[in-house]
Amino acid sequence: MKIKNICCIGAGYVGGPTMAVIAQKCPEINVTVVDINENRIAAWNDEDVNNIPIYEPGLSEIVAEARDRNLFFSTDVDEAIDKADMIFISVNTPTKTYGIGKGMAADLKFIELCARQIARVAKSDKIVVEKSTLPVRTAQALKNILENTGNGVNFQILSNPEFLAEGTAVDDLLNPDRVLIGGDIDSTEGKEAVSSLVEIYANWIPKERILTTNVWSSELSKLTANAFLAQRVSSINAMSELCEKTGADVNEVAKAVGMDSRIGSKFLKSSVGFGGSCFQKDILNLVYISKSLGLNEVADYWEQVILMNDHQKRRFAANIVKTLFNTVSGKKIGVLGWAFKKDTNDTRESAAIYVTDYLLNEQAEITVYDPKVKAEQVYADLDYLNSRPEEENRKRVKVVNSPYEAGDKAHAVAVLTEWDEFVELNWDDIYKNMLKPAFLFDGRRLLDRKEKEKIGFEFYAIGN
Ligand SMILES: NC(=O)c1ccc[n+]([C@@H]2O[C@H](COP(=O)([O-])OP(=O)(O)OC[C@H]3O[C@@H](n4cnc5c(N)ncnc54)[C@H](O)[C@@H]3O)[C@@H](O)[C@H]2O)c1
Repeated sequence: MKIKNICCIGAGYVGGPTMAVIAQKCPEINVTVVDINENRIAAWNDEDVNNIPIYEPGLSEIVAEARDRNLFFSTDVDEAIDKADMIFISVNTPTKTYGIGKGMAADLKFIELCARQIARVAKSDKIVVEKSTLPVRTAQALKNILENTGNGVNFQILSNPEFLAEGTAVDDLLNPDRVLIGGDIDSTEGKEAVSSLVEIYANWIPKERILTTNVWSSELSKLTANAFLAQRVSSINAMSELCEKTGADVNEVAKAVGMDSRIGSKFLKSSVGFGGSCFQKDILNLVYISKSLGLNEVADYWEQVILMNDHQKRRFAANIVKTLFNTVSGKKIGVLGWAFKKDTNDTRESAAIYVTDYLLNEQAEITVYDPKVKAEQVYADLDYLNSRPEEENRKRVKVVNSPYEAGDKAHAVAVLTEWDEFVELNWDDIYKNMLKPAFLFDGRRLLDRKEKEKIGFEFYAIGN
C-alpha cells in the first residue's frame, strides 16, 4: 500500500523532527503533526522558523523547506486521523507518578487516549505505528482497544522505535545506523504494513539499514538500546570516582579501553551524570517489567545503572560543598548550562537540576546561564521537585543572559552542560570578577586543567 497521508500524534522532540525529515524526503506524502498543546503547535507554525519549539541544529531549515508544502502542524487531531493512511503515535510515556508501579512503570495513559481516539474517528483501514518508547507487549493492548472499540475497520500495528539523540536529531534521522520496524510478519496484511513503512524510509535510507522484526523484538530492542547506552555512562562514571582516588585520569582510561574494538570508544565520556527524558525512565521501565515477571536479578542488575547515576550527581554537588570549606551557605555559585546536554533546549532530568537542588538545600545562592534555556523553564524544573516553596526558588536562583554575569562575584562556577561556547569564554575575565579563591568545577571534562590553573582557578574535574 502506497502511503499518501501521514498523521503524527505528538509534536514533541521525536514527533516534530522525525516528521519534518519524512516530509522533506518524501514530498509526495502529506504529513500532519498534531498535538493537544496549542502553544506548541502555534510555535511550530511561527512565521519565523527560529521560534519553533524545539532547538536542534539544522531543524529550522528543514521546517522552512517543507512546512505548508507537505508538512503541517495542527491541533485538529480528529481531522488528521481521519485523513491518514498511517498514524504515528509519538506522545510522551513518562514514569508513573501514582498508583501501581509509581516511580518505575511507564505511564501509558497518553498512549491509550490516542488509541481510543483513533478507534473512535477511523472510518477506513489504518496502519498505526508506535513511535513512542513502550514496554514490550504494548502493541497487544493497542490492538485490543482498536479492535474492540473501533468502527469495524482494520488496523495493523507496527513498532518503529526512534533512536535519534537530541542535539544531533537531524543528522541521526538523515543518516541513521539503522531503522527498526516490527510488525506481524506472519500475516500477509502485517507484511504489507511493514513494507509500506519500509518504502517510506527507503526514500533516503539504504535498505540494508532497515531492519524488520516481530513486534516484541522491536519494542524490547529500544529499551535494551537505552539501557546499554546508559550502562556505559554509569560504568565510566563509576571508574571516574576510582580515578579521583588513585591518580588515574578517566579520560586516559576511557581512551585506552575504548581503543579495544570489542568495546569501542563511543559513550565513554565521564560526566556529572546522564540526563534526558529517556534513559532513566526506560531503565526504570525495564526494571519494572523484569520485576513483574519475577526476574529479580535482571531487575537489580539494571537498577544499579540508575543508582550509580544518582550517586554521581550527588557526589559532584557534595564535592562543591566540601571544597568550599564545608559550607556554601549564602555563597554565590554560577551554574553554566542547564540543558541535559549541548545543542538542545531540553532540560528533562538534567543533572543541573539535581546539583542545583542539592546546593539550594545547603543554602547556596545560584546564578544560572544557559544559551538555549529560558528562565521560566529553570524555575519550572526546580518547582517540579517540590523541595521548597516556589517563591524561594525565584529568590535564591537568578537566571542571567551572560556567562560572565553568572561568574560575577561568585565563589565558584560549575560547568554542567558541555556547550561548545563554554570552552571559548574569556576565562581570565571570569576569574578576575570572582571572589578568591576562585573555584571552578568541570562536570563535563570540557575545560583544560593546566590553562585554568595557570589563570589562578582552583580547578576540579570529574575523574581527574
Ligand atoms: N526525546 C528523545 O530524545 C526521544 C528519543 C527516542 C524516543 N523517545 C520517545 O518518544 C516519545 C515521545 O518523546 P518526546 O521527547 O517527543 O516527548 P514530548 O513530551 O516532547 O512530546 C510529546 C507530545 O505529545 C503530546 N500529546 C500527549 N498526549 C497527546 C494526545 N492524546 N493527543 C495529542 N498530543 C498528545 C504532548 O502534548 C507533547 O507535546 C516517548 O515515548 C519517548 O520515550 C524520545
